[in-house]
Amino acid sequence: MKDEMQEFSERMAQRADQVDMALAKLLDARLRGDEIARPDTLLAAMRHGVLNGGKRLRPFLLLETAELLGGDQEAALRVAAATECLHCYSLIHDDLPAMDDDSLRRGLPTVHVAFDEATAILAGDALLTMAFEIIAAPQTELAAGLKSELVLALAQASGLGGMAGGQALDLQAEKYPPDEAGIITLQSMKTGALIRFACEAGAILSGSNPTDRECMKRFGEAVGLAFQLADDLLDVTSDSQSMGKATGKDTGRGKGTLVALHGADWARTQLSGLVSEASSLLSPYGERARILLDAAQFVANRKH
Ligand code: IPE
Ligand code: IPE
Ligand code: MG
Ligand code: MG
Ligand code: MG
Repeated sequence: MKDEMQEFSERMAQRADQVDMALAKLLDARLRGDEIARPDTLLAAMRHGVLNGGKRLRPFLLLETAELLGGDQEAALRVAAATECLHCYSLIHDDLPAMDDDSLRRGLPTVHVAFDEATAILAGDALLTMAFEIIAAPQTELAAGLKSELVLALAQASGLGGMAGGQALDLQAEKYPPDEAGIITLQSMKTGALIRFACEAGAILSGSNPTDRECMKRFGEAVGLAFQLADDLLDVTSDSQSMGKATGKDTGRGKGTLVALHGADWARTQLSGLVSEASSLLSPYGERARILLDAAQFVANRKH
């Protein structure tokens, strides 16, 4: 008999295939049907930054939240693809020489290494914009009011008060190390905000009531914190072969992480606390939310 985590991995792999196919279509010039001139190199760089085997965690959370709350799966898939475009943009820019200066991502050369810096900046810009285009497009069959709520929530999660703001605080933290509260704020912005969006978006597009929406948002917050804590832990305990990206760099650059502040054992205890928090938040949904709880467990125990 298959164990629960094996079933979960298979479900995650199925969802990743679904999302990969949706992204491949969205990034296939021949299928777009709009009559605009497309610079081939820019499109190739965007494809390199997206169609390269990410875990597709944010789309997974979004699709599963939408399924739990009865949302339309076709529309959810498009919003999930949009969220992944935004995430990939953040990775392309995060790897630039002016930021983390990394040359390996998902086991492949980063976009600025495979192409050049200007192309990587533009590929990021175009993917950020494309995320909003996908949500707003008529092919995303959702009521206009729901679409504008999604656009607002995604803009808030990725802008000044979300991912971009968090990245600015992360760079500042290399020079002026923040205290624990400062690190938590930084992390909940740079990584937590988009993960929280993924969970909340599943509720928004399902037209959920405020209680379900708030609950998914709080679940996303707990998963988001666990996600970055695990990333920082893996930066210390894993290797670049397993991670598909450089490791051991946070300490080298003096990045303010909770693992640097409190150590690996403390981080593991915190991670199980965050999984318990996720579990209490999901308890009103009973067995139907098991896959989301497995996702929280996966995030906390992940190996890559
Ligand atoms: C990596 O995100 C960047 C962080 C926010 C720490 P993921 O670990 O989800 O990366 P991919 O998408 O699977 O490559
Ligand atoms: C990046 O955090 C977060 C975003 C891209 C918004 P990290 O810099 O820790 O991510 P990795 O370790 O390069 O994937
Ligand atoms: Mg970074
Ligand atoms: Mg980085
Ligand atoms: Mg990292």
